Amino acid sequence: MRVSGRRSLRVMAVLAVASCSLPASGQAISFSRQVAPILTAKCGGCHVAGGKGGFQMASYAGLMQTGVVQRGAGNASRLVEVILTGDMPRGGGKVSPEQVGTLMKWIDAGAPYDAADPTIPLDQLVRAAAAPPPVVPPAGPVALKPGEVSFAVDVAPVLLKECAGCHGQQDPEANLRMTSLETLLKGGRSGPPATPGKGAASLLVRKLRGRDIEGQRMPLNKQPLADDVIAIIERWVDEGARLDMLAAATPLETLVAVGRARSMSNADLEKLRFAAGRKLWRRAIPDEEPLAEVVDGVCLIGNLPAARMRELAAETEPLAERVRRELLGDAGPLLRGGVVVYVFRQAYDYSALWQNVLNAERPKGIAGHVGVSGDVAYGAVLLPSGDDDDNPRALLAEQVAGAVLAGRMVPEWFARGAGRAVATRIVPKAPVVQEWKRDVPAAVARLGSAADFLSGHADPVATATAAGGFVAAMATGARLKQLVAELDGGAAFDAAFAKVFRAAPQPAFEAWAAREVKKAPRSR
Ligand code: HEC
Ligand code: HEC
Repeated sequence: MRVSGRRSLRVMAVLAVASCSLPASGQAISFSRQVAPILTAKCGGCHVAGGKGGFQMASYAGLMQTGVVQRGAGNASRLVEVILTGDMPRGGGKVSPEQVGTLMKWIDAGAPYDAADPTIPLDQLVRAAAAPPPVVPPAGPVALKPGEVSFAVDVAPVLLKECAGCHGQQDPEANLRMTSLETLLKGGRSGPPATPGKGAASLLVRKLRGRDIEGQRMPLNKQPLADDVIAIIERWVDEGARLDMLAAATPLETLVAVGRARSMSNADLEKLRFAAGRKLWRRAIPDEEPLAEVVDGVCLIGNLPAARMRELAAETEPLAERVRRELLGDAGPLLRGGVVVYVFRQAYDYSALWQNVLNAERPKGIAGHVGVSGDVAYGAVLLPSGDDDDNPRALLAEQVAGAVLAGRMVPEWFARGAGRAVATRIVPKAPVVQEWKRDVPAAVARLGSAADFLSGHADPVATATAAGGFVAAMATGARLKQLVAELDGGAAFDAAFAKVFRAAPQPAFEAWAAREVKKAPRSR
């Protein structure tokens, strides 16, 4: 390398400037956010996209292979030298002293890489790093202060009614899905549409006002939303775009239903829930009008013979009372607005409900489940005819108790497990209860990881069986009652679980499962 006297003076001057403008010491230079943008902007056309002079730095890995970077020695690195001598960039571009300082400081610090894959093309790396950080919605719901905007009550119903038609699950316009708070905040084509704390500036609000936007005012081809409605949405973003109940991934429909339920009387809510329960049946099985029997906050809906439906209703009454004693202790409703229990005689009708409500095939071996769909908290169970032992009572108790918890928005494994735990206490001698108990160790052995189990990704039959064993083992004494009281007091499930069981679900499950697996008969 030959550097003329004139040039070396310039080098010294640049170095002096560079060292003054270095970021505060201790602050590491980021390759992806600081270095790569300089290289792509100043050298890119010739050395990132192209390989002028046989020199190419298409990626970090490519750059390091060329030998122009000597880790720890910015001064001695050819990358810096060709700039300081004025040789590069060719074509009239300029690298500022600050930018040279950044390059040097980065090399001095060992030229570290701060992204995942060192072979990603530099231009792609720069684009990814320049994108606004993904908005992470609050993990759990926050308790609102009086007067603050509720997403569930004030915002979600508007989105569901006015926007979800075009911004729904299938082919959403501008790739913006408004199916949950999570998908809304993630955004579409233009990225996150709501910047917490900045309502008026957020794309969501600008699109509603039709001001400072590209494209059209929203909702497209409809009347603009009323000013006060837009103002509420703006205030919601100003207040942090927060979630005030359930989870960020909860479907908007469910969130809206739960939000609405809070402000309705028990009787009105019951009308709403039971009507929605019938509608759900008709959607799944359109060619058969079901029979419905209402007892004590439970609406039995099904297509068993009328006499059998009445019999089941008569059995449900004392069962509901027992479930109330296990879960609530007082005389209040099992769940505000009640629960629905679907009873099926035929397997294909039960499968139709899965298909329609859960968009899935009914897993083999599943003859009952619980869930929430819009306004309906339900249990569903296949009751073959000719069962004259305790089984139908145990299965009904399981669904009622499970639905009571599902309606309180606990995770599915817990609702199912609590249903079985309660049924086990109420009808301990039922053959089906004996089978549940017998199958627990083998089910646990088949589950895979605790995380799979807790997130609903494990085998459904094994999940139901293990959940029943786990919750029954945990829920001794009055603990289920305490947990329900915590939930009714507004606690999120994880907090309520931790308070009552003094552990998080995962470690508690792992400890229990480790003991159960030892009981499993050795497979050979
Ligand atoms: C307009 C095109 C162009 C731009 C922009 C450009 N270069 Fe070059 N670069 C060349 C050409 C042409 C050569 C071959 C030079 C030669 O042989 O004289 C070269 C050669 C090099 C070499 C290898 C030869 C040597 O002297 O070690 C390095 C290293 C280099 N450039 C670094 C850079 C850096 C760093 C930048 C950005 C700050 C940059 N170049 C910007 C065209 C360009
Ligand atoms: C009739 C269909 C339709 C309805 C209803 C609708 N949109 Fe849109 N939306 C579109 C189309 C088409 C685009 C893409 C073109 C554009 O941006 O003008 C879009 C784009 C958007 C964008 C920009 C997304 C991005 O990433 O660029 C936002 C934000 C948006 N809509 C919000 C809403 C809101 C809020 C509502 C309800 C109040 C709503 N939309 C209702 C059709 C609709």
